[in-house]
Amino acid sequence: MSEDTHPQTDGGTDTESSDNGDPDRTGGSDDVALDPWGSSTIDDYPKLFEQFGIEEFDESEVPNAHFLMRRGAIFGHREYDRVREAMANDEPFAALSGFMPTGDPHIGHKLVFDELIWHQQQGGEVYGLIADMEAHSARGMSWDDIDEHARSYLLSLLALGFDAEEGELYRQSDNRVLQDLAFEIGSTTNFSEFEAIYGFGGETNVSHMQSVVTQLADILYPQLDEPMPTVIPVGPDQDPHVRFARDAATRMRYFKVTEAFASFELNADERALFRALYDALAADDTVETDDLRCEDAAEHLQAFDADADEATRASLARKLENAGKEPIRPRVRFLDRNANEAAFDALAERISGEKRRYDAHIDTFDLSPEAADELAREVEIDHDGYGFHTPSSIYHRFMTGLTGGKMSSSIPASHISLLDDPEDGHDKVMSATTGGRTTAEEQRELGGEPDECPVYELYAYLLAEDDDELAARVYEECADGDRLCGGCKEQAATLMKEFLADHQEKREEAEAMLEELDIDLSSDRRGLGGEDEDEAV
Ligand code: TRP
Ligand code: SF4
Repeated sequence: MSEDTHPQTDGGTDTESSDNGDPDRTGGSDDVALDPWGSSTIDDYPKLFEQFGIEEFDESEVPNAHFLMRRGAIFGHREYDRVREAMANDEPFAALSGFMPTGDPHIGHKLVFDELIWHQQQGGEVYGLIADMEAHSARGMSWDDIDEHARSYLLSLLALGFDAEEGELYRQSDNRVLQDLAFEIGSTTNFSEFEAIYGFGGETNVSHMQSVVTQLADILYPQLDEPMPTVIPVGPDQDPHVRFARDAATRMRYFKVTEAFASFELNADERALFRALYDALAADDTVETDDLRCEDAAEHLQAFDADADEATRASLARKLENAGKEPIRPRVRFLDRNANEAAFDALAERISGEKRRYDAHIDTFDLSPEAADELAREVEIDHDGYGFHTPSSIYHRFMTGLTGGKMSSSIPASHISLLDDPEDGHDKVMSATTGGRTTAEEQRELGGEPDECPVYELYAYLLAEDDDELAARVYEECADGDRLCGGCKEQAATLMKEFLADHQEKREEAEAMLEELDIDLSSDRRGLGGEDEDEAV
């Protein structure tokens, strides 16, 4: 297959993005690269917050937080609050992730398996998929190899506790409903976006593009029967797909619900500023907000102390002045985005209380934004729309390779496959690099550097499992110089051996479950079987 080129993406789609919460999506020459098909190492996680608007993950608000959350392995998110709130309120929510079957599943994939299983245990509808279309079109894998690896991923996922009766497992190529959704999404996206987001160009193979639309469909698939908050647990290299799917979900909505204060439109920044001003005036006894007119508000704005940028202030002031004596009245506005006439009429009909209907929007005066949002979704669903919630995501750190550097399937000593012979797993841990000092003496004196140590990471992300006490003890003893690398590795190696032996036994038990599943693992397909490329984890 031809080599696609993937220059650094700047994270900026040129699509309507004002309401998906990404404040700064600016590009720049020293951007962190987020390339789904590149080599996934991230040197600077905090930079992802600034540059791409990924939010910092705060496990303290998550009930029953998973150990990967507690130990900082899950470091970032987009709007996970939606899912967390659904979870807390016993409302439906979903989780979905996908796996490219390019090799054996390894301990890096186990993080994602664990995340899916945990969300399932918290009551979510959980989906795991095999990205076989992507493996074939973007990595040139042969279908025979794909079949074999797909089987292996599914076995590990089941062995680790995925409940296939409660959740759903599928292959991209095998899922007709998914392909229909991909087709719909494809008709709302265009090639310029693929260029901007992924650096695709004239040489990119068309099936690769199809696999991207398919991934966008994967991300929205859990909402087909019933729209619900959905979390996509992935590595940060997948963030471009997440952002694109969030845009697609938004632009496919029939209505956009916003707050307004008068007849004219505000952008998000102006709206926030005006909301702050209005609240301040409402709290001020000397101002009668019921009688407030736009030109009065413009005057108040001059004296209003808020940390908004000058351009926003100036544009808001201009809009208020232009509106002159128009009274200010807070309202919730439904903007027509993709609604058909019947849906627009039905919406107007179903709004209770005072309302004003215009050509392409309806203003309402007695609805809360939440109630409006719900109504918009109901009407959309009643009129053949999807009514998608914007999907959320959580991001985990990539595991460090056992040899230092990145963990990669093409460097066997750098990773541990879930299929590795337990003895080999043991030996790989024993030969891992550490954050230890050159001599035992120095180690006792200065302490080791657990934050720089792949072996500590094994404890934290895998071996200690739910035992926080063990993870904390290894960390502290190491940092205090009370733990030496030889013994520390021996302990980790033994745990690894036990884990692998146990996991492989469970994989055998899972064979029967896999047979029960309605998944075709001997796809009778022809194609070009290329060579496996270097896959980062
Ligand atoms: N692109 C992902 C990978 O490279 C696999 C994938 C396909 C996926 N569809 C997905 C991940 C949907 C998350 C959600 O591993
Ligand atoms: Fe790593 Fe353990 Fe050595 Fe500390 S003592 S540096 S955690 S191997």
